[in-house]
Amino acid sequence: MSPAFPVPVRPVIQQPPMVEEVLDDAERETLKARIKTLMKQQDAVLVAHYYTSADLQDLAEETGGCVSDSLEMARFGHAHPAKTLIVAGVKFMGETAKILNPEKRVIMPDLGAECSLDLACPADEFTAFCDAHPDRVSVVYANTSAAVKARADWVVTSGIAAKIVKYLHQQGHKLLWAPDRHLGDYVQRITGADMLLWQGSCVVHEAFKAEALKKLRTEHPDAAVLVHPESPEAVIALADVVGSTTQLIEAVRTLPNPEFIVATDNGIFHKMHAAAPGKILLEAPTAGEGATCTSCAHCPWMAMNGLRKLVAVLENGGNEIHIEESIRARARLSIQKMLDFAAAEKAGHIQLGD
Ligand code: 13P
Ligand code: SF4
Repeated sequence: MSPAFPVPVRPVIQQPPMVEEVLDDAERETLKARIKTLMKQQDAVLVAHYYTSADLQDLAEETGGCVSDSLEMARFGHAHPAKTLIVAGVKFMGETAKILNPEKRVIMPDLGAECSLDLACPADEFTAFCDAHPDRVSVVYANTSAAVKARADWVVTSGIAAKIVKYLHQQGHKLLWAPDRHLGDYVQRITGADMLLWQGSCVVHEAFKAEALKKLRTEHPDAAVLVHPESPEAVIALADVVGSTTQLIEAVRTLPNPEFIVATDNGIFHKMHAAAPGKILLEAPTAGEGATCTSCAHCPWMAMNGLRKLVAVLENGGNEIHIEESIRARARLSIQKMLDFAAAEKAGHIQLGD
């Protein structure tokens, strides 16, 4: 099927240099103590993604916050009574928190923490795409700006994308999907839905290499292969489990395999080791230096988060997320549909069948 609207060719996304915070034990403890004091004073809770540093993940758990995937980050921040939400992750996660909690102050360690998927889908181009296909229901991945969410009918995260698409397909809808072509392609394959796909991709997951993964799997015959669905089709085809970050951690905890080959950002290893101590975790190959990989299994935008920046924000203010109210209110509707669907599905009110 050839789209009537020219779907943009895959844009080249400029990545920032990988700069990770390096702390010695003394500085780490000093910063954490200061942050804890400031968080209490400002009635703040820390919500961190699995791809952020071990220091931020530990701090979130030590202070009653959460470390999770993007769906649970949204749910947790929304349900928590704190007046300030600190979102350690990338900008769309901070924006989602603000969209759901306009009355709260939402801050981030670094507002420059973008996402290649979000950058690949400018709101004006997405709007033109939707306008060219008024017969299609638009479904966007959470990794998009507030303005794109405002134009979309539904927002989904990787943890719930297949279920929502299957549901819409069963209702007889044709779909328009943005921005991740690999996730869209995967969801289309497993649901059979009629979907027009935007051509964005994640710089981290796109770098995983199927041939090298096959070789590694041969060298580790007892290992299960775990793949995030932002990865290319040939990599997904080798997976024992395909899922969101939370679903992959759950696989490490519950599967009997002694070893796992993991095709997602290596920041997740911190939680995987905690969930299944003693199990061996191997990074899926990205072909390494000298090849096409520039991020090498770690998101350069996630790496922008750190304890030093968090102290600076709490001490000096700034880095607050603001969203124009008309955009926020419309984006809220498409996110709320996802949260309502997730709750109804969990309660057994939605039967998807085969
Ligand atoms: P999850 O929703 O699985 O946490 O994924 C978010 C993300 O940005 C993955 O690259
Ligand atoms: Fe975006 Fe990929 Fe980074 Fe996730 S890992 S935030 S999808 S660039």
